[in-house]
Amino acid sequence: MVPSYPSQSERRSKEIAAGLPSEDGSVNAVDESRKLFAHFLWSAAMVVAEGVEKADTLAARGELDADTAMWTVRGERVLELGAGAALPSVICARAHAAAVTITDHPSSPALTGAIDFNIRRNLATTETKVTSQPHEWGTLESDPWAVAHRGTFTRIIAADCYWVRSQHENLVRTMNWFLAPGGRVWVVAGFHTGRAIVAWFFETAVQNGLEIERIHERDLIATSEDGGEVRREWMPEREGEGPENRRRWSGTARTRASHPGRPSPPKRHRIKRRLVQHNVEPACRKPEDEVKEGDGKGGYMTDEEEEQLSKDMVPLADLLNANAD
Ligand SMILES: C[S@@+](CC[C@H](N)C(=O)[O-])C[C@H]1O[C@@H](n2cnc3c(N)ncnc32)[C@H](O)[C@@H]1O
Repeated sequence: MVPSYPSQSERRSKEIAAGLPSEDGSVNAVDESRKLFAHFLWSAAMVVAEGVEKADTLAARGELDADTAMWTVRGERVLELGAGAALPSVICARAHAAAVTITDHPSSPALTGAIDFNIRRNLATTETKVTSQPHEWGTLESDPWAVAHRGTFTRIIAADCYWVRSQHENLVRTMNWFLAPGGRVWVVAGFHTGRAIVAWFFETAVQNGLEIERIHERDLIATSEDGGEVRREWMPEREGEGPENRRRWSGTARTRASHPGRPSPPKRHRIKRRLVQHNVEPACRKPEDEVKEGDGKGGYMTDEEEEQLSKDMVPLADLLNANAD
């Protein structure tokens, strides 16, 4: 099930986060279902975490190559959106970011759960300033924290935050709002929710003033003979791919403000040119169109697949505890 994220009062958000029923005793199905997504570690977060760790390790050895350098965070001010278990933030703090701010939806149980735990457990001794902050995408002018931090983050991470198309514009608004001049946004998505929804996001991002600097697909399972990543060109659609094959791939893009300081989106013909350059077709299909043409499941997982995937996933706390001293 893919939830929608209606805005709600701050008081109600806190109540939900605390697990309290609403005044009339009812339970909101959307908020309940959201909890399913917040406390697992998704493959996109692993892609970011691995990239940051590799960049830091190679830099320490003086072996940093131009490609891996895209993940360098030393001295950067990092913001993670929809962080869930916040593994990328943990690694960024370990990799000498100047400051890391971990955010999730105000009603996400991760804020007082996995995020809080992982900061206390893993970052007690780091010199990086690490904070967590409730943030609902697109809620900006009315949020004093958002107002105070506008344009201050040099790296923004959004891993697996693209499931809900109606939230794409809000997500891009948030990215634009917090991005510092010269800053970069890492957009990383597993394709388990379908390619079409990711393509939709890129279109929305470009229409709203973000420029895709680089983009590729990465195999989440296989490695090359020398242990490196298996990559290929990003394609918004791959004929006959099938759900199994599609899910083993992820998409990674690095974006920046296309016109820093200019709030209005660029003109339509320029958008199209940029999309074509990066092989992002203007999305003329809705994700749900895949029902008719593709795997018969609308690009999203069936309940059985979701259950199986959940079984295969490792809560971050367990993963980090296994290595904790
Ligand atoms: C699929 S999880 C990804 C978690 C983590 N980034 C990862 O890759 O493991 C999506 C996250 O986005 C958050 N989220 C969903 N809608 C949101 C919204 N409108 N505003 C802020 N966060 C939201 C959820 O609470 C959840 O933590």
